Amino acid sequence: MSDEIKKGLLGIVVDETEVSKVMPEINSLTYRGYAAQDLCAKCKFEEVAYLILNGELPNKSQLKKFENQERKERKLSNTLLQDIRRFPRNAHPMDVARTTVSIMGLEDKETKDNSPTANMRKVMRIFAKTPVALAAFYRVRKGKKIIPPKKNLSFSENFFHMCFGKVPDKEIVKAFDVSLILYAEHSFNVSTFTARTITSSLSDIHGAITGAIASLKGPLHGGANEEVMHMMNKIKKPEYAFKWINKALDNKDVVMGFGHRVYKSGDSRVPTMREYFGKVARLKKDKKFEKIYNIVEKVMIERKNIHPNVDYPTGPTYHLMGFDTDFFTPIFVISRITGWSAHIIEQHAANKLIRPLAKYKGNQHRKVVRLNQR
Ligand code: SDX
Repeated sequence: MSDEIKKGLLGIVVDETEVSKVMPEINSLTYRGYAAQDLCAKCKFEEVAYLILNGELPNKSQLKKFENQERKERKLSNTLLQDIRRFPRNAHPMDVARTTVSIMGLEDKETKDNSPTANMRKVMRIFAKTPVALAAFYRVRKGKKIIPPKKNLSFSENFFHMCFGKVPDKEIVKAFDVSLILYAEHSFNVSTFTARTITSSLSDIHGAITGAIASLKGPLHGGANEEVMHMMNKIKKPEYAFKWINKALDNKDVVMGFGHRVYKSGDSRVPTMREYFGKVARLKKDKKFEKIYNIVEKVMIERKNIHPNVDYPTGPTYHLMGFDTDFFTPIFVISRITGWSAHIIEQHAANKLIRPLAKYKGNQHRKVVRLNQR
């Protein structure tokens, strides 16, 4: 048993998975063997959600059944809607996501049942309801009426409709769908590993996803897409970008949206998301953010050889779509629920309690002295 410390579990393989793999030979993230960019080009998000959860792409009737199930489960309980109306208006939407999944766990009649069939039913309820809860908060905090989900709208269309009261151009919906496909799954990232760790004690899926959301909120993980937008807003104009990013690097700041534990010469999801960021920027007739994007990226690669990760293009894309900046990571949540759930189910199927060791460096043994002598 080696006592060499691998802080952050750097490079440590802790289990096997069939859900996804970054395949260096095709420089691509693959879900159940399919390249993510191939899925973006040929599928809509619901097909990929089905793939990640079930292991195969659906045929037409399987997709119809899956979509009907997701749309049927969108309805929130009156209690949850009342709770959302009472949440503090300045609550961070990631805390709202975490809290609403927790409340769903209180309400779910199958919380105690970890069987594969019960878990899949609970997954569909969490998958369907979380976007509705988030959109409801999006409206409530602006003092607007909650817009109920519509069964005749796709997952992406419905989210736009519940947030803004309308469905945008199909190119915008497609770009949003692509971002959800790219965000859906990424092997043993910290939030997924959090979900697997919680599951390893045979705790329930609502608890595992609540923990995963808490982990994803961190700026070193999913919270980076929000931080990217804060950075771009601080830069303000393309003409300030070169000086701003060089000063940040001189200060040894961590630049959000760049770097990755696994990808060391570029996140394979970025080219696809960058292409759709460009499409949305042209549709919105916005050049500013693309110029800032390109200048910062160039300096990061030339000066530090650090490449963008998927959060870098998604941040400005969501901004141009009209979402509030603190809603960017919750969008990551509504997609990643699929990946988290697939891993939770996989952990249950071949479970071993996750319990690493620590190298002790504290006090050696010593006797207790009573209070009146201390
Ligand atoms: C996601 O794991 C996943 O799969 C996550 C994810 C998913 O789909 O689930 O891909 C989603 O979380 C993407 C990452 C989003 N986070 C950020 O954009 C935050 C900024 N990135 C960094 O914090 C960093 O790159 C990490 C945390 C993402 C990865 O860092 P590592 O692997 O722990 O490496 P490190 O922090 O030790 O950095 C190695 C060197 C350091 O320099 P030295 O101290 O050796 O001189 O590279 C530097 C770092 O300072 N570095 C950066 C940097 N990233 C690494 N310097 C400035 N800005 C950065 N962004």
